[in-house]
Amino acid sequence: MNTSSAHAETAVQSAMGFEWSEKLLTGDARMDHTHQEFADQLAVLLATPPAEQLPLYEAFVAHTVAHFAQEDRWMLATGFTESNCHSDQHAMVLETMQAVVKHYQLGETDIINRMGEALGEWFGQHAQSMDAGLAQHLQSVGFDSATETLADPAAIRNVTVSGCGSVSCS
Ligand SMILES: [Fe+2]
Ligand SMILES: [Fe+2]
Repeated sequence: MNTSSAHAETAVQSAMGFEWSEKLLTGDARMDHTHQEFADQLAVLLATPPAEQLPLYEAFVAHTVAHFAQEDRWMLATGFTESNCHSDQHAMVLETMQAVVKHYQLGETDIINRMGEALGEWFGQHAQSMDAGLAQHLQSVGFDSATETLADPAAIRNVTVSGCGSVSCS
């Protein structure tokens, strides 16, 4: 294979697929493990022919429900208000992901690929901003995400976060 065709192949792969990168690490081991699973499932989904994607996509949506619920739970446990822009973004993304199933069943069989590619772009940005900010917040208040406990519950007595913590909501 010559160099230009190797480059062309790489470009096609990156347009159609999704790859995990160390840049996505947030520093919270449990969050990073969940993110790695998200990335692996997304990569497999995008490498699967459209006709066979639905069961994989449904499992991916179920994993995302648990992924987002886990972060929302940690936010509530560490001083975030129930309505905060990170949780709102989770709810919005999940609603769009769930709506895709119906469109696929009605014959729009390329929609899972389109959603998967959009999610790949969204996730990179989300992990590096809101999720990384949350990981930093958990660490600063002494929250252990493995056991979901606070070293000192008094640490969040005066903490109320209604935005996104240390990151912007844009
Ligand atoms: Fe996340
Ligand atoms: Fe998140």
